[in-house]
Formats: sequence, C-alpha cells, structure tokens
Amino acid sequence: MNILIMGTGYVGVTTALVFAELGWNVTGLDTDSRKIQTLSEGKLTFYEPGLEDLLIKHLKTGNIHFTSSPEKAIQENHIIFLCVGTPSDADGNADLQFIHEVAKSIGKHMDGYKLIAVKSTVPIGTNGKLVRWIREAQSLPHPFDVVSNPEFLREGSALQDALNPDRIIIGSDSTHAVDIIKNLYNPLQSPFFVTTPKTAEMIKYASNAFLATKISYMNELSRLCETIEVNISDVAVGMGMDDRIGPKFLKAGIGFGGSCFPKDIKALLHTAKDYGSELSILDKVIQVNQTQSSHFLNKWEHKLGSFSDKKVAILGISFKPNTDDLREAPSIAIIQELLQKQAFIRVHDPIAKLPTGLLSDRLQQFDTLEKTLHRCDAVILCSEWEEYRSADWTQMRTYMNQYFVFDGRNILDGVQLTKLGYHYHGIANQ
Ligand code: UGA
Repeated sequence: MNILIMGTGYVGVTTALVFAELGWNVTGLDTDSRKIQTLSEGKLTFYEPGLEDLLIKHLKTGNIHFTSSPEKAIQENHIIFLCVGTPSDADGNADLQFIHEVAKSIGKHMDGYKLIAVKSTVPIGTNGKLVRWIREAQSLPHPFDVVSNPEFLREGSALQDALNPDRIIIGSDSTHAVDIIKNLYNPLQSPFFVTTPKTAEMIKYASNAFLATKISYMNELSRLCETIEVNISDVAVGMGMDDRIGPKFLKAGIGFGGSCFPKDIKALLHTAKDYGSELSILDKVIQVNQTQSSHFLNKWEHKLGSFSDKKVAILGISFKPNTDDLREAPSIAIIQELLQKQAFIRVHDPIAKLPTGLLSDRLQQFDTLEKTLHRCDAVILCSEWEEYRSADWTQMRTYMNQYFVFDGRNILDGVQLTKLGYHYHGIANQ
C-alpha cells in the first residue's frame, strides 16, 4: 500500500518509518525543502533514539522517500496521514493554520478517492472542518474519507511507542476507511478501538490531560509531604501497587514540560470555555505546574544564603531525557528565575543546546561536566538523563566550590551523595 505522510516532524517521521518497517511504501512530504533534503540524506532534524538507523535502513530498502512537491505525492497515494503541527495560538487555542493549508493542498491536487487520517492533535470537531476545507478546495467532487487516528507516542521513546501502541484509536463514520486503517496497522497486533471522529479527538486530549493531572497531583502532594517529612517517591510506589492507579506518571519533580501536555491542556480548556463548560481541575493542574519549579528553588535557596552571585550548574535542560526538545522545559523557568536572582548559571545537557541568543556572561553552556561544575556552589538537576545518574560523583565533587545538590527529579542516591560529602536535597525525599 502507498502511504503519504504530510509533515515530517517527530510524529510524521516516526509514523513514516513505522509504516516503512511494516513493509508499506511511504512518502514523506514537507513544505520545508531543507528538511526534505536532510531526511533524504539519512539525517534527522531532531534527536530521537533509534530513528536515524531506521531511516537509513528504509532509504536503502526503498520503502521510504521524501519530497516537497505536493501535487505528485497526493496523486500517487490513496492514503494520507496528516502529521503537521498544531501549536498554541495567543489565546491558548490550537492553531489550525497548517491543517488548513494541507487540506487546501489535498483538495486542490486530488484526482480520485483519498483516505485522510489525522494524527495531529486537533481540537474536538476539527475532522468536520477538514471535510469542509477539502471540499471547498476541490475543483471536481472526488470522494474522500477523513479518519481521526490520534498518536500517543512520547518523545525520547517515539519508535518503541509507535511500534508497540497500547491501543489504536480510529474515529470514523466510514466502515471502508476503518477497514483500510486496520489493515495498515494489523501487523502491530495492538487492540483497535473504533469510535466517532469527535470521540477519537477527545480521547487524545483526555489522555494527555489525565496524565498531566497525575503529575500535578503528585507534585502538589509532594509539597505537603515535604512539610510532614514523608517521602513522596515511597508514597508513589505504594499507590502504584494498586492496579486501579498503576505505577506510571506518579513521579514528582519540577513539573511537566514539552510540546504536548501544556499546549493540549490549554487547548482543552479553551474548547470547554467555547462551549460554556468548566474544567476546573485542569485549571489547577496548570497552576500547580507553573509554580512547581519556583516552589523548588524557593524551598532550597536558604541553604546557600541566596542564589545572588552564586555559581549554579544546571544539569539537563531538555524537558525530559533522550530528547533535545526545550519546549516548555521546566529548566528554562528555573534558569529565568535564577537570572532574576542574579546567579551565574552554567548549563550542561548531553544533547540539547540553549539558543545562542540567550547566552551571556551570567548564562553559559559547557560540553563536559568538569567545565560545567568548575567552582560551582550548587548543582540543580532538571532532567533525568542516565549520564547524571551514573556520573562519578566522587570526581564531580573535586570540581566544585560548595557541595549542594538540588535534585529536581529525585533520581540521585541521596544517601550515597551525603556519604560523599554533598548536601543533597530532592523533592519530598527526606
Ligand atoms: C506526551 C504523552 O505521554 C504521549 O502519550 C503523547 O503522544 C505526547 O505527549 C503527544 O501528545 O504528542 P511527551 O510529551 O513526549 O508525551 O512526554 P512524556 O513522557 O509524557 O513527559 C511529559 C512531561 O511529564 C515531561 O516533562 C516529564 O518529565 C514529565 N513527567 C512524566 C513527570 O514529571 N512525572 C512523571 O511521572 C512522568
């Protein structure tokens, strides 16, 4: 089967490669010709473990190729997956500009039946709009179906998630379209749930918002646990042993970030507002998240006297490990607050880079832990890269001036660090 993927960000490229791996003939289309050139040379435009090897493999097998010419690509493929971005607009709503553009392009160039599957996260009701936009752009009334097929992969483990999905949601009113989509995914042997397009769209938002709610719940609870000297990580273990709760997404930290949770909750709140409905729990989820990093800094600042003119090392700036994505990363909020507090900040990340425009004599990035920690008064761990967990902390201490470690992800062994002479503080992990 021939499949066209419109949009070659991390969802688009991962989806394209998974279908290529399943043996389908895949074309990746993007308006950004530099991206297309890079992908055609077997290189990714973002960091994602395992993906580049699969890209090189399927450029060789010929199961995948890339183009920036929509007309031929749309005409040669009956099945089209939309994987374009839906960033937040100024009001927090999802901006459908790119969805609208690809709809116009499909309507304009199609010359026969097309099945259009929407992977992008889009507000409830967008599939209906898409049908209208495609029809408006058609010069002849060629038939087509639109299917909602939301994506649930995570950055950092995109390939594994996409090859082993917990479920495949198909929102469609057309049994013909549902059968085609099922056939595409069949080799994955994951369960299907077939529903209406609007329900499928809601499942995506409801899932992300629920996962974020679990995190904010644990983060808020950790503030109480700190006060009454209860270990939040142990609370999470005990809670997670209940099948009805489960052990995942209960890790307290300095807050959730990324391109999805913050954006999707805002979009869902926006939809609720548009329909005169209230989602008060989600308001609170955002509020707890927005205050979590400064709560963490304020909690420990007195240990140093103040952060003013102190040298502080930030370990891990990506919003989570195994990605170079800085979007809504809690580290950025921490850095901004430390700058306001007049600290000197020295940043390290195995992959992610701060934009050079942000760098100054007070904010520098280094490529080794030795340079980063040089004469530092404190370390703040912001994302849980394995490199930090397994670092030689005996050696690290020799680089530092004072030995404070503030662990924003509760991943370091506090007992061991204390034995090594550090003053270790995490999140309610006393
Ligand atoms: C999230 C969802 O998990 C995916 O299912 C979804 O497909 C994706 O959004 C999307 O909509 O595209 P992602 O944002 O890549 O995936 O990353 P997550 O692993 O969910 O982590 C999000 C944030 O939550 C990170 O900042 C992470 O550090 C934080 N987190 C996660 C916690 O603070 N505690 C936890 O227990 C788990």
